[in-house]
Amino acid sequence: MIRSEKTGPILRITIDNPPVNALGAGVRAGLAQAIAAAAEDQSVGAVIVTGSGKLFSAGADISEFGKPLADPQLPDVLAAIETCPKPVIAAINGTALGGGLEIALACHYRVALASAKLGLPEVKLGILPGAGGTQRLPRLVGVEAALKMIVSGDPVSASTAAASGLVDMVVESAEGLFDAAAAFANSPARPTSARAVSGDAASADAFVAANPRLFRGLTAPFACVEAVKAAATLPLAEGLATERRLFLELVSGEQSQALRHAFFAERSAARIEDLPKDIAKRPVGRVGVIGAGTMGGGIAMNFLSAGLPVTMVETSAEALERGAALIRKNYEATAAKGRLTTAQVEAAMALLTPTLEFGALGECDLVIEAVYENMEVKKQVFGRLDAVARPGAILASNTSYLDVDAIAACTSRPQDVLGMHFFSPANVMKLVEVVRGAKTAPDVLATIMALGQKIGKVPVVAGVCYGFIGNRMLIPRQDNALSLVMEGASPEQVDKVHTDFGMPMGPFQMTDLAGVDIGWHRDPERIDDLKDALCAQGRWGQKTGAGFYDYDAARKRSSSPVVAALIEEFRKREGVTPRAICDEEIVVRTLYTMVNEGAKILEEGIAQRSSDIDVVWLYGYGWPRWTGGPMFWAEREGFAKIVAGLERYAKSMPEGFSISPLLRQQATATEEPVA
Ligand code: 3HC
Repeated sequence: MIRSEKTGPILRITIDNPPVNALGAGVRAGLAQAIAAAAEDQSVGAVIVTGSGKLFSAGADISEFGKPLADPQLPDVLAAIETCPKPVIAAINGTALGGGLEIALACHYRVALASAKLGLPEVKLGILPGAGGTQRLPRLVGVEAALKMIVSGDPVSASTAAASGLVDMVVESAEGLFDAAAAFANSPARPTSARAVSGDAASADAFVAANPRLFRGLTAPFACVEAVKAAATLPLAEGLATERRLFLELVSGEQSQALRHAFFAERSAARIEDLPKDIAKRPVGRVGVIGAGTMGGGIAMNFLSAGLPVTMVETSAEALERGAALIRKNYEATAAKGRLTTAQVEAAMALLTPTLEFGALGECDLVIEAVYENMEVKKQVFGRLDAVARPGAILASNTSYLDVDAIAACTSRPQDVLGMHFFSPANVMKLVEVVRGAKTAPDVLATIMALGQKIGKVPVVAGVCYGFIGNRMLIPRQDNALSLVMEGASPEQVDKVHTDFGMPMGPFQMTDLAGVDIGWHRDPERIDDLKDALCAQGRWGQKTGAGFYDYDAARKRSSSPVVAALIEEFRKREGVTPRAICDEEIVVRTLYTMVNEGAKILEEGIAQRSSDIDVVWLYGYGWPRWTGGPMFWAEREGFAKIVAGLERYAKSMPEGFSISPLLRQQATATEEPVA
């Protein structure tokens, strides 16, 4: 796990713990031993610490959290590095994160490869850097730059790190890294802790005030600020003690447990239990996209950005031009924010072939259909596609609800067909539901899961059913939200319960964003429900400036007296006397019902595992990450409490409601025994 090699007076200590050089108990012990030996050994003049493979180290072993940690503890190992009488130089050969970067911070000098990324992502796991990161980083880069790294958790490039004083030298090629590190061998041992902090508690407060988005709903960012303030105001030993106390509080807290669950859930979603690990994947060199609308364009961008050529097909020259222009506009907007260079924009655009020739899809290894959500239209498209696609090409539908098996049946090759359900905006949202049809071949599924990861998405496997995982769970939530308003709640009250919970928006805000008219029968005379009434008045949501709320030109939302009157009128028409609805009922009918649907999805085998459902909601709908996702949250909330709540309000639920047998089973299994 730790290798030591001596060349002349220089001892090179290498962390070798694949796959990410995490700092588990064995690594900590080995490192402590190697440093102690180097300090003792008269023939050692200087020490270089580095990582094996492509990473320096991804930090503490997250799987050890929540259990008693074996000695030595990381802070003690780092204290030994810092107080080593001989110069200790970090040769940062690749990604250095969390405890990995903290090792480098405790070294006396830091040399980094230009491609290395350096970060303290602990906050994303609901904790703070717990091995001196909050104390040493401000001593190197100042309070403000340190807070930016620690509170955002986002890594910086080696060149940014050099500009801020975090690293002493950047080296372009891996071959030159050790010589560059060895150049510091004759410099004095220089403990980071001896340096003064630039910036004070007031600069920390200013950071909090300027970045409210980083703090919303979370406890860890506040602890990060408290620890950095301690660095600015207290001697190192006291600052370290503050950091330790906060670390221990956070690591055993609910948010950190949930965020760690989310970390591992995302990684398990990539695994498909019944597929052999080494299954051969089909090569995908060119991707076809049918439809150049918002969805098709967004889908195409994912592949273009990853360097894969895309053939985009439309039926009219106008739609094709509009689609290609929208892709360019999106790229240019990203470039304007400094996140892409002009050359990168042009390189991506050069990979796009817009065409009216459906036959051009014959060159593609994967074709994704993104046309109007209508079964007849999709069936027709797949019939045509079957005639032109080359043998072995993978045919995917971006349907968000429809039966992928029925679509596959329109082709002569159902084994090559599956669903790839992207979420809007498709170039931004990370989730892709990969819908496995009854006949989808294993290598097709494996290819698409791997390709999804390659283009930076989080792919989750779902079985065939109406709405798959995400949208299926949305149905009881949205139905109940509408019924609650009919019975006496206001859209504002329902939405507030959701935003207070941490959702980016509530059910009605979401309807306004997506379009109130989605699925509308388009007959203004026929008013079956409140949504019909809104649609009939042209209140189709944000796009028409009015839906459940009013919107100004900048799409700023305000409550609508027109809607309030409409709701009242509608209740009268239906003979409903409104009653006061409490928030608890809203929680049960719009959140517990989602959990109930999630349990049905599990018992039907639509999702492989409960944590996959969490991943869908975290990445597709912005479910608050610090609660771990709906199913993780449900377990904490208590299955028995959820079942009891659902039973209590069962009579008010829309038709067809039933409690999942699996959920009942879980409730019984976890119920507190009666004394
Ligand atoms: N601890 C334990 N396991 C880890 C780990 C860690 N810090 N980092 C990654 N792994 C595991 C993953 O779970 C995965 O396991 P699997 O193959 O069984 O699913 C495997 O290593 C490979 O990881 P990825 O699939 O994520 O590989 P990538 O190449 O896509 O990404 C990475 C590599 C950027 C390093 C990414 O894994 C990552 O971001 N890791 C977490 C980094 C982090 O949060 N570090 C801080 C830890 S907390 C800490 O250091 C506390 C300290 O302050 C005291």
